[in-house]
Amino acid sequence: MSSVQEKVQPFAAPKGIPEYSPPESVGFTHVRDTLSSAAERAGYGYIELPVFEETGLYARGVGESTDVVSKEMYTFADRGERSVTLRPEGTAGVVRSVIEHTMDRAGLPVKLRYAGPFFRYERPQAGRYRQLQQVGVEAIGVDDPALDAEVIAVADEGFRRLGLTGYRLELTSLGDASCRPAYRALLQDFLAGLDLDEATRSRAALNPLRVLDDKRPEVRTLMADAPLLLDHLSDESRAHHEAVLAHLDDLGVAYTINPRMVRGLDYYTKTTFEFVHDGLGAQSGIGGGGRYDGLMATLGGQALSGVGFGIGVDRTLLACGVEGVQPWSTARVEVFCVPLGEAAKRRLVTVAGALRQAGVRVDLAYGGRGLKGSMKAADRSGARYALVLGDRDLEAGTVGLKDLASGVQRDVPLDSVVTELSSLLA
Ligand code: HAM
Repeated sequence: MSSVQEKVQPFAAPKGIPEYSPPESVGFTHVRDTLSSAAERAGYGYIELPVFEETGLYARGVGESTDVVSKEMYTFADRGERSVTLRPEGTAGVVRSVIEHTMDRAGLPVKLRYAGPFFRYERPQAGRYRQLQQVGVEAIGVDDPALDAEVIAVADEGFRRLGLTGYRLELTSLGDASCRPAYRALLQDFLAGLDLDEATRSRAALNPLRVLDDKRPEVRTLMADAPLLLDHLSDESRAHHEAVLAHLDDLGVAYTINPRMVRGLDYYTKTTFEFVHDGLGAQSGIGGGGRYDGLMATLGGQALSGVGFGIGVDRTLLACGVEGVQPWSTARVEVFCVPLGEAAKRRLVTVAGALRQAGVRVDLAYGGRGLKGSMKAADRSGARYALVLGDRDLEAGTVGLKDLASGVQRDVPLDSVVTELSSLLA
């Protein structure tokens, strides 16, 4: 063995992946759990999905022509030479699972919620990541406008519970199989008469609707008089759309109609929506979703409808930062134990255990750091109280209970400190 150790270059996480460690991770889990519990309250059961699936599921389900499938998927061959893909979104996986496990044979709608990481090989920037976190819901099997409104209201409720106010809901209808083809042809005719550059022209050939939300001013001017799908809906789609709006009005959920909204996934029909936060710059979409009435059949299931949303947890957390709302506490613990000496440590370890059993969050200064270092650690932990125990206290059968905000310290009998703290923190 060589006596000279080679210096190991430290590793770095892959590019474009936000990592959440304390104290930021407290906000992350709070946002995720708040969004998820809004869905739980509306009866959406939790589903834990695979993080990778057969590649064909996304190609078929999300659509070959989308950026997500054609440019952004993490696709690789596993050791058995099967092509698999890290999930870029959740809807296709949920629908696959509903079909595979015949969940649609029980009562409809099947209402499911999920949370976790998704993967898209995008160019990383603020709010745009390669590993992104979503909370999502899907309601499958009932084509009822009240269900569309419920899905939207659940997302809205999640944002409101967090204290967010600076977001908007944009909504439109993408019609159905009976009106979209005719509209597509109409739009293509309109586009053929415009002086568009080559790249835009080929984009238009693949998916003409995408030109509608082109952000370049010169294209916007050209598209000002473009026909809009909202003006060409089938009677059924129109009635559905109007019923969704009426339900949202009843629920007090504010919205604006954006007839030029284009979503990055191909499966949408009828109701389509996005939650936009204006404080976030370019990556302003904090959530989006809609109806996907053809997806079940496309993936080999019964011809059942579906509606759902995916909310970006990372971006929602950023929005909380922008608005300065922080409905969570970053305090790691409520009580911090400071032992001065070995005998005191033995006793405080027991006290800490008893407090934890009583439901109190407790930490202890390990490593014999002395009073000053330990009190610094107590402050850093965010605890409300410190328990300071030295040899003399032990002899007297008491412990110093210090209120870390006011600095006031008093002696409390060791035998009753657990009940005392439990009631102080209740
Ligand atoms: P999506 O609009 O592609 O929809 O994504 C939903 C949300 O995920 C976005 O609004 C955004 O907040 C977040 N998100 C997407 N990509 C990124 C990224 N690269 N970095 C950070 N956040 C991101 C879907 O995925 C659909 N499956 C939603 C759905 C469910 N539709 C029906 N059911």
